[in-house]
Amino acid sequence: MPSNDSLARASGNVKWWKNANIFQIWPASYKDSNGDGIGDIQGIISTLDYIKALGVNTIWISPMYDSPQIDMGYDISDYESVYPPYGTLDDMDQLIKGCHDRGMKLLLDLVINHTSDQHKWFQESRSSKTNPKRDWYIWRPAKYDADGNRQPPNNWMSCFSECAWTWDEHTQEYYLHLFCVEQPDLNWTNEECRREIYRSAMEFWLEKGVDGFRVDTVNMYSKPMDFPDAPIVDPLSKYQPAGTLYCNGPEMHKYLREMAAILARYDAMTVGELPLTPNTKDVLDYVSLKDPQLSMVFQFDLVDIGRGPVDMMKLTGYKLSALKAIINKWQTFIEGNDGWTTVFSENHDQGRSVSRFASDAPEHATNSAKLLAMLNTTLTGTMFIYQGQEIGMTNVPKDWPIEEYLDVGSINYMKLIKEKLEATGASEEEKAKAVHEALLNINAVGRDNARTPVQWDSSPHAGFTTGKPWMRVNDNYKKINAAAQINDPDSVLSFWKRMIGLRTKHSSLFTFGSFHLLEPENEQTFSYVKKSAEGDEKALVVLNFTDQAQEFKLPTEDGANWSLLQGTQPVEDPTSAPLKAYEGRVFVNFGARD
Ligand code: NOJ
Repeated sequence: MPSNDSLARASGNVKWWKNANIFQIWPASYKDSNGDGIGDIQGIISTLDYIKALGVNTIWISPMYDSPQIDMGYDISDYESVYPPYGTLDDMDQLIKGCHDRGMKLLLDLVINHTSDQHKWFQESRSSKTNPKRDWYIWRPAKYDADGNRQPPNNWMSCFSECAWTWDEHTQEYYLHLFCVEQPDLNWTNEECRREIYRSAMEFWLEKGVDGFRVDTVNMYSKPMDFPDAPIVDPLSKYQPAGTLYCNGPEMHKYLREMAAILARYDAMTVGELPLTPNTKDVLDYVSLKDPQLSMVFQFDLVDIGRGPVDMMKLTGYKLSALKAIINKWQTFIEGNDGWTTVFSENHDQGRSVSRFASDAPEHATNSAKLLAMLNTTLTGTMFIYQGQEIGMTNVPKDWPIEEYLDVGSINYMKLIKEKLEATGASEEEKAKAVHEALLNINAVGRDNARTPVQWDSSPHAGFTTGKPWMRVNDNYKKINAAAQINDPDSVLSFWKRMIGLRTKHSSLFTFGSFHLLEPENEQTFSYVKKSAEGDEKALVVLNFTDQAQEFKLPTEDGANWSLLQGTQPVEDPTSAPLKAYEGRVFVNFGARD
């Protein structure tokens, strides 16, 4: 039966954002145009042709608003101005025009669960209990324990491993911050506050011509306002993870419908960041077209694989079959309904995918990057690619000392580990071992991995800046950089270009097709079939996720007439040659009929 999308396409009525292939820019580390060591908007503008040549049609930039940069711009002090080291409003107008002139759309990051504590709204709110904006943030009186010691209103831990409440001496109350102390949560139950968020953070930019938003922590606006304690899952910690309590709260859908009504006036898209939402039904409630809220979401099962349930920095390992099951779940959850899905394996909060899901060993890194490019570009949904992923950037070397890690998440995590060790009276030897293990975990999944400067060429500081980069450049930049790859037909960059081209050309198969997992239990090779909604095009994708050759024989029993569309490595007979380490092949059968 034709799907809603094939019918929509037939009538020329598919939503533009379903066909978007989106390149994410994290401004601080992207490209510095003025030698101050920090990326900037003019740097982005100077690379628009490079981005366009990649074949993507949309750019998302992480926050470029004015900010004290405690959480690298996710702490906004003014939605209507630009962080001066990044540039000005005029630069943003130029960027919007530069994208549109090239036929590309531009998305901004909408961070409205919280502001910076330097935002004028919070400054007013904290000035007195009677200030008209007092209720725009979440203030609560202290509790007292049996000994009369002051305690926060509940036991919630922030996402950055601290108490989620901070005491304000001046007005003698606590305020809530699900992230850093400097990121107070807005009170979405206050209607006037919501209206001003919509005007200042959304309409201001939509009027300037941006085409939509990536929406930060989109399911945290509505909290249980009685603030119950979270269950104790980590007895060694005073504060407990509380995500299941504050995500997907009672008024979430109401707030998102209000936002969707504004976005619809501009035909703007949203992609919501949706942590801790494992059920397909709950995700569909956010993205179903019949009750417009979000165009699509980032669901985190894939990037969270192999991480501890309580301590997300701790690695527990995973099997390929588990990874396949996750991809299968989020590829097929849109079958038979009007929802939509996304494809991504990197962003500014994750370790690099080559290091995480394949191998960054020098002999395998290039093949691994191509393997993952093949996976990403053949899956259904709106596809996202993160700066540096297109050249196969890897995690930072394991021997970097903790001082090189600058992210507040990494720093607070190490602090917490050390506090816990003190509390348990661990020996010096035990402490050293635990600290080393924590550093290895940070190295594997910490956010700093994605935040090293983009490796443009082999000149000092990888061509990112002529000054001193704000963060250390990955040591491998002489080997992995864009200049070395741009004219090399065998490079990771050329491979991404080719695959994005094929994805665009055969969108009914790759962007819109249905997904059928083969051999779910095979722990070495990941294989699947894609079928166009009309049923006349099929693709078979086979990906060897190991460093060993794997037997391969092109299936013939289904009568399909497969031909190789693209491989990641040269092979003589792609129909029967064993798959080499980290090799992938895509076969197609056009004119097929089920
Ligand atoms: C999610 C963002 O991706 C992350 O970088 C940020 O720290 C938090 N939300 C808080 O805004």
